[in-house]
Amino acid sequence: MDTPAAAPPLIEFKDVTFGYGARAILDGISFSVPRGKVTALMGASGGGKTTVLRLVGGQQRAQRGEVLFDGQDVGAMKANALYAARRRMGMLFQFGALFTDMSVFDNVAFPLREHTQLPEPLVRDIVLMKLDAVGLRGARELMPSEVSGGMARRVALARAMALDPELVMYDEPFAGLDPISLGTAARLIRQLNDTLGLTSIVVSHDLEETFRIADHVIILANGRIAAQGTPAAVRESTDPLVHQFVNALPEGPVHFHYPGVDVEADFGNGLGGRR
Ligand SMILES: Nc1ncnc2c1ncn2[C@@H]1O[C@H](COP(=O)(O)OP(=O)(O)OP(=O)(O)O)[C@@H](O)[C@H]1O
Ligand SMILES: [Mg+2]
Repeated sequence: MDTPAAAPPLIEFKDVTFGYGARAILDGISFSVPRGKVTALMGASGGGKTTVLRLVGGQQRAQRGEVLFDGQDVGAMKANALYAARRRMGMLFQFGALFTDMSVFDNVAFPLREHTQLPEPLVRDIVLMKLDAVGLRGARELMPSEVSGGMARRVALARAMALDPELVMYDEPFAGLDPISLGTAARLIRQLNDTLGLTSIVVSHDLEETFRIADHVIILANGRIAAQGTPAAVRESTDPLVHQFVNALPEGPVHFHYPGVDVEADFGNGLGGRR
């Protein structure tokens, strides 16, 4: 779907620096997430992808720079404005689970009951519509222990969309799915984005599937944006970081190890047993 060239991006990071304590994670990054598109956010494990989503949702605040959501700086928002902004966002958490003591139906109804005063018959219609969109209208009575991992992911997706968000952020939606479920989940993300007119951010390690559904790709490496652009443009990048990443090479400039003492200090004395 094409939006007019004049439409400003839904999200803009402007020179954002962030660290947990003294550890810098993001080092002055700038990028934008175009409206109405599927944007893939990729990069090595521990590189700060989930952190980027947390900055968008205002669970963390940038130490420098601006995180603009629809033109407004999330980091500067007071509680009310932040809650209002969050209601426009749906989030599928990396390790997000369903409420185990609630049926599929009640899981999806939860945000509606929590955040709105809609009458129960309307809640029912909305829940069934959302479940229908992910192909699980028939599974409404099941408990989370009775659905497969892939189905649970789709229920979580229906729940993330319950309040009709404009933006949906998916943190590792494909983790642990078999190739068929993975393809289905990917197509679903694309389909929902286009039919509901959403803006989507997908954090994923699955290069092939993610490049297939994304309009825009952002690669985060070593605290910086190594590349951003169309999947084709990113694939052709000659930047060594990007090359290592899109070709899944084990050796290269992308850091794999969490910072710590060097190998020599831990293993080099031949005695072992040191911590
Ligand atoms: N709440 C926290 N407190 C301290 N450090 C944190 C916290 N959350 C994340 N980190 C650190 O920040 C870095 C980036 O974490 P983040 O979860 O954003 O990475 P990621 O790119 O999502 O990784 P993955 O692909 O493994 O999910 C990691 O080194 C992690 O140890
Ligand atoms: Mg993560």
